[in-house]
Amino acid sequence: MAEIILTGDRPTGKLHLGHYVGSLRQRVVLQNSGDFDDIFIMIADSQALTDNADNPEKIRTNIIEVALDYLSVGIDPDKSNILIQSQIPALSELSSYYMNLVTVARLQRNPTVKAEVEMRGFQSNVPVGFFTYPISQAADITAFKATVVPTGEDQEPMIEQTREIVRKFNQIYGEVLVEPKILLSDNKVCKRLPGTDGKAKMSKSLGNGIYLSDDSETLKQKVMSMYTDPDHIRVEDPGKIEGNTVFTYLDAFCVSEDFPDFLPDYGCLDDLKEHYKKGGLGDVKIKKFLIKVLERELTPIRERRSRFEKDIASVYDILKTGTDAANRVADATLSEAKAAMKINYFDDTALIKSQQEMYNN
Ligand code: TRP
Repeated sequence: MAEIILTGDRPTGKLHLGHYVGSLRQRVVLQNSGDFDDIFIMIADSQALTDNADNPEKIRTNIIEVALDYLSVGIDPDKSNILIQSQIPALSELSSYYMNLVTVARLQRNPTVKAEVEMRGFQSNVPVGFFTYPISQAADITAFKATVVPTGEDQEPMIEQTREIVRKFNQIYGEVLVEPKILLSDNKVCKRLPGTDGKAKMSKSLGNGIYLSDDSETLKQKVMSMYTDPDHIRVEDPGKIEGNTVFTYLDAFCVSEDFPDFLPDYGCLDDLKEHYKKGGLGDVKIKKFLIKVLERELTPIRERRSRFEKDIASVYDILKTGTDAANRVADATLSEAKAAMKINYFDDTALIKSQQEMYNN
């Protein structure tokens, strides 16, 4: 069976380090592994509109931001199709048929939808489109017969709901759709990178994010003001590692060469942690180290971004090419699904004949 990747992001803002360690970095590795027959990375603008209907301009401007972020981290348009969700009509059509396979109660139980409804303060004013977006997300995934969805942990309920829809569809209409698996980052810290305030997940609304497109000066300021251990007041004081954002980020980003290159007095991260716990290691020193670690990772990303920023037309060409390829695949799946559902009246050559025979008798 073909191995196919489908994943995506809502274009509601620039992508940050949480997206990077949570999924983007892994997507690039998967892309370059050569293990996949086809890869689709979706800019999910229709989904973003389900709770931004009054602000289409925000979505429009962030499509290019997300595209630039994808290209800058190393998503390669020769290997992966980058596509825009709203330009794939088959997705809406598939969604409308899947809606018949899902109950209102099941959607109400979806933990991600529940949490988002609460976070947005929708109460009883949830837009229907927002409420049903897990169904359209199932269409996103199944239209490409994706086997693997590399994405963040918060998307787990979506993949589970997709699998249920696939099973139900196949059981009623025959084996057409493919059940996908989620692929999470294997590093625990990376699954939920906290914001620079150490409190919650990195997010734009909390203003605690470091963005892939931040310049060196911004990065430096954000790291220098990062939350550490509030009881670690003097350098000599013993410090805590748990909940210390700088160490959490080091867990997510540090590679073994970083020590010989930037901090040769220590052999590895555990040595640094031991010293911090014992006392005698200041926050400024660990922050400066983290800046170097992050700079090494982000410099090539910024360089690629600035090259693509100089030619926005070529980025739209990439999106158009990816979207065209995606339409061919999604249209084929839609045709197959409609044939299985017996709603392919004009393509079914046996239909007229069998009905004529019925009337002849
Ligand atoms: N729901 C995802 C998010 O919030 C975006 C998304 C839309 C997606 N369709 C998808 C993710 C399909 C994985 C697969 O970012």
